[in-house]
Amino acid sequence: MTTIQTMPKLSLFPVTAEVNEKGHLSLGGCDTVALAEEFSTPLYVFDELSLRNRCAEFKTEFGNRYPDTTVAYSAKAFMNKALLLIIQEEGLGLDVVSGGELAIARSVNFPMDRVYFPGNNKSAEELEMALQCGVGRIVVDNLHELNMLREIAGERCTNILLRLSPGIDPHTHRYNATGIVDSKFGLTASTWDEAVATAMSTPNLNPVGLHFHLGSGIFEIEPYQKAIDVMLEFAAAMRQKYGFELSELDIGGGFGIQYTLEAEPPLISAFAELITSEITGKCRELKLLLPKLIIEPGRAIVGRAGVALYRAGVVKAIPGIRCYVSVDGGMGDNIRHALYGAKHEAVVANKVMEKEDGKVTISGKFCEPGDVLIRDINLPPVTAGDIIAIADCGAYCLPMASNYNASLRPAVVLAREGKVRLIRRRETLEDLTQRDLL
Ligand SMILES: Cc1ncc(COP(=O)(O)O)c(C=O)c1O
Repeated sequence: MTTIQTMPKLSLFPVTAEVNEKGHLSLGGCDTVALAEEFSTPLYVFDELSLRNRCAEFKTEFGNRYPDTTVAYSAKAFMNKALLLIIQEEGLGLDVVSGGELAIARSVNFPMDRVYFPGNNKSAEELEMALQCGVGRIVVDNLHELNMLREIAGERCTNILLRLSPGIDPHTHRYNATGIVDSKFGLTASTWDEAVATAMSTPNLNPVGLHFHLGSGIFEIEPYQKAIDVMLEFAAAMRQKYGFELSELDIGGGFGIQYTLEAEPPLISAFAELITSEITGKCRELKLLLPKLIIEPGRAIVGRAGVALYRAGVVKAIPGIRCYVSVDGGMGDNIRHALYGAKHEAVVANKVMEKEDGKVTISGKFCEPGDVLIRDINLPPVTAGDIIAIADCGAYCLPMASNYNASLRPAVVLAREGKVRLIRRRETLEDLTQRDLL
C-alpha cells in the first residue's frame, strides 16, 4: 500500500486514503474506481473515520483545556441526515442558519437544546419555528431581530446570545470575512450597548452571552485572540453598567484546513491552546467568571472527509496555451473555484502512481467559461474515462450545488472499513420537472 510518505498529495485526502494493489485510490477501504462504476459520477465520497476523528479532535483539544466547552458543528458546511446522526453520536451540538437547516435537524430528532441559531435576516416564521422547536440559543444578529423576537416570544422566555461584529479582519478571502466592520453580519459596535440594555430590560429575553464569527478559512489565531479581548472587555463594561453576566461566549467557527501542500493552517491544538488561554487570562484580568465556551467549526469537521469523483471526458489541448480536461460535473456541484478562486488538489484515481507529465486545467461541463474546478494542476496523462478524485470537497461544495443547466445534483456515499452506504441519492430527470406547474 502506498501512503503519505511516498505520495505527499495523499495527506490532503481523508485519513484512510491509500493506493490499493490495483493502483487505485481507496477511501475508507473502498476502491474509488469501483465506487464510480457502482454509483456513477459525479460522486461525493465521505470517509466516516475522518469525520469522527475530527469531531473527537475538536472535543478533546478544547475540552481538555477549558472547563465547559460545546462544539457545535456548523451545518452549512454540509448537511445530510446520515451525517447529522454521526454528529449527534459524537456528542456535538449544531449551528443552523435557516428554517430549512432547522427542519432537517428536527427530522432526525437532533437534540434541540444543543442547537444554536445565528443568521442575519431571520424571518418571523423562522423565529417562531425556533421557539416552537425549543432551540438552545437564538443568536440575535441585530436590533430589528431583537425587537421582532421580543414580540413573537410573547409569554415564552428565551435564552439568547447577542452576535457582535467585532470589526476584526481575519485575513481570509474577502467573501469569507464576516466579522469586519463592513459586514452585514452582527451588531455594529455603536448598537452593542443598546442591544444589551434592551435585552436585559425585556422580561421574555434572557441574554446569556455573546457571539462572534470572524469568517471562514482562517489561518491565523491572533484575530480570535483580539476578538475575545474585545468581547470580554465589553462584557466587563456591561456588568458594571447593567449587571450583565457573561455566562456563555460563542467564538463561531472559521478554522482553516489545508487545501494545497503549500498552505498549512495551525493545528486544532494550537487554536485551542491560544484561544482558551486568551479567555482564561483575560477573564482573570477583568475578574470575570469563566464563561461556557462554544465553538462552531464547519469546514474543519467535514472538509477533508469529502472527496469528489468525476469522470474525465473531452481533453482539449490548445498548443502553447492550456490543456482542458472536462469532467462530468463542475461549478454546479462545486462552485468554490468560480466563486472565490479556491484551490484544490486532485489525483487520477485509476492512475495514482503514474508519473505526472504536465499541467492541465480541470474544467466542468457547465456553460460558463469560469466553470473550472482546478486551474493548472500536475497530473499523469489524462484520457477520457479516467476518474479524477478531488480532495477536500467535504465543505461548502454540495450545500452550494445548483441545478444550473438543468444538471442533476450528485449522489453521496459514506465509506467505512470497506463498506459503503448511499446517504443521498443522485437527482433524477423527474426531480427537475416536479416543481413546475402548467
Ligand atoms: C455563524 C457561523 N458559525 C460558524 C460558521 C462555520 O464556519 P467554518 O465552516 O469556516 O468553520 C459559519 C460560516 O460561515 C458561520 O456563519
